[in-house]
Amino acid sequence: MSLKNHTLYFGDNLEILREKIPDESFDLIYLDPPFNSNRNYNVLFKEGLQDSPAQVQAFEDSWHWTSEAQSAFEELVGVRKSKTKINEQISNLILALEKLVGHNDVLAYLTMMTIRLIELKRVLKKTGSIYLHCDPTASHYLKIVMDAIFGKQNFQNEIVWCYATPSGASNIFPRKHDIILFYTKSDNYFFRSQRIPHKSGLHNTGQVFASDNEDIEKIKEMEKLGKKVEDWWVDIFSVDRVRAERLGYPTQKPEALLERIIKASSKEGDWVLDPFCGCGTTVAVAERLNRNWVGIDITMLAINLIRHRLARQFESKGISINIDGRPRDIMGAKALFKKDPFEFEYWVLDMVDAVPAQSKTKENMRGADKGIDGVINFIKDVQNSEQIYGKLLVQVKGGGVHRDHVATLKGDVERERADGGVLITLEKPTKPMREEAIGAGFYKVKFGNEFEFPRIQILTIEDLLSNKKPKVPLGALRYFKEAKPIKETKQGKELGI
Ligand SMILES: C[S@@+](CC[C@H](N)C(=O)[O-])C[C@H]1O[C@@H](n2cnc3c(N)ncnc32)[C@H](O)[C@@H]1O
Repeated sequence: MSLKNHTLYFGDNLEILREKIPDESFDLIYLDPPFNSNRNYNVLFKEGLQDSPAQVQAFEDSWHWTSEAQSAFEELVGVRKSKTKINEQISNLILALEKLVGHNDVLAYLTMMTIRLIELKRVLKKTGSIYLHCDPTASHYLKIVMDAIFGKQNFQNEIVWCYATPSGASNIFPRKHDIILFYTKSDNYFFRSQRIPHKSGLHNTGQVFASDNEDIEKIKEMEKLGKKVEDWWVDIFSVDRVRAERLGYPTQKPEALLERIIKASSKEGDWVLDPFCGCGTTVAVAERLNRNWVGIDITMLAINLIRHRLARQFESKGISINIDGRPRDIMGAKALFKKDPFEFEYWVLDMVDAVPAQSKTKENMRGADKGIDGVINFIKDVQNSEQIYGKLLVQVKGGGVHRDHVATLKGDVERERADGGVLITLEKPTKPMREEAIGAGFYKVKFGNEFEFPRIQILTIEDLLSNKKPKVPLGALRYFKEAKPIKETKQGKELGI
């Protein structure tokens, strides 16, 4: 088992850590797990060239008492055999937490976090650091868990990251800070103080003033050096305010935040892991700062988003991202469909550059009528220097397919006034299906001359795996919002560090 730089793993981080990550692999781990806030987050997509309200569920921000939580609990308290090494102190802690918080979703959250944090300690180098990003509703519990796993002597900081965003709260002080718990594996760890200008934000309080008998030169020198960043951060805006960075992924963290952590706790060439990597802020910054990196996420959507986020950066360097867990052949595709039809659909939609249909969730997918799965947008004309968009509806079928599916898609295309439809199937289409598709005829687009495209196209997963794409006039439009590439955040640049 050896690690490859630039790897994204698609899957549950517990399984991946246990099966694919060797001991003592990383110098720095940053994790930003979903909090237990019970909100479901949506991702925004771009339709055409405008921002659209197209939304799909990115991930569920809550942990429930599932059979997985039950078995993790049993492993932690020692009544079930575990692949994770658990000591008595952890078992006692979990039993005590059960008494304290009860047998509910909060305990599910703490159980699922504890078992993962033990694995994270295993994969951290002896000289490594871990930063756990959480909020004040969970930080007090997680700190006890971290003390038990890493040792309270290895607690280094509780960082308070403050941000100012609008709030509707009127019966409490608006909650405007997150907590980042910084622990190390031993007392022999790497750390480099970060500095910011004396006058930046609220850090004004540390401004250096010259008095009559002080050496002005010395003061100037100190000002030039900047002020050491303390454990409360008020100079980093949330992504809501740094819009250039914004990808529409909920809970996206600012690059400046990750830059500070990565620069403080790693050197060039060090290994960085983000096991809940979302839209990939950690890995994007690690790449920019020449660290080696590995990311893990349980949704195909996040993995796709990161691929798009890093594509340009990577193309120019001539390297590619290794994606582990994305099907490469028909066997892999079938296995993914069997394991998770929802994630299978996302994988397929991404291969044809389709925007997933609005408001799709794992729950409503189970309904009998799932409607259209996605939309491919393209430019079909330019009138008075304005682009006119066309759309193709996409339907993905992992199970059995028959002629009715083509007929239904034809009906959907008419009803939605779309230009055409694409049916993508895991199984080979039958002859009557092909005939029905051919019978649907063509649609036309004008670019100077007139061009014809089949109204209904059928492609198999095998076609897609061998790089065949649906026929789309001038090609499908990229569907993820793009962040403006960020070269260096302000604080670093100002001080030349
Ligand atoms: C709060 S978000 C992380 C956001 C990230 N810091 C960023 O800047 O985009 C949490 C992420 O954890 C992922 N996730 C949740 N449970 C997971 C698990 N068991 N294994 C791997 N990833 C998981 C979710 O899909 C989501 O993308």
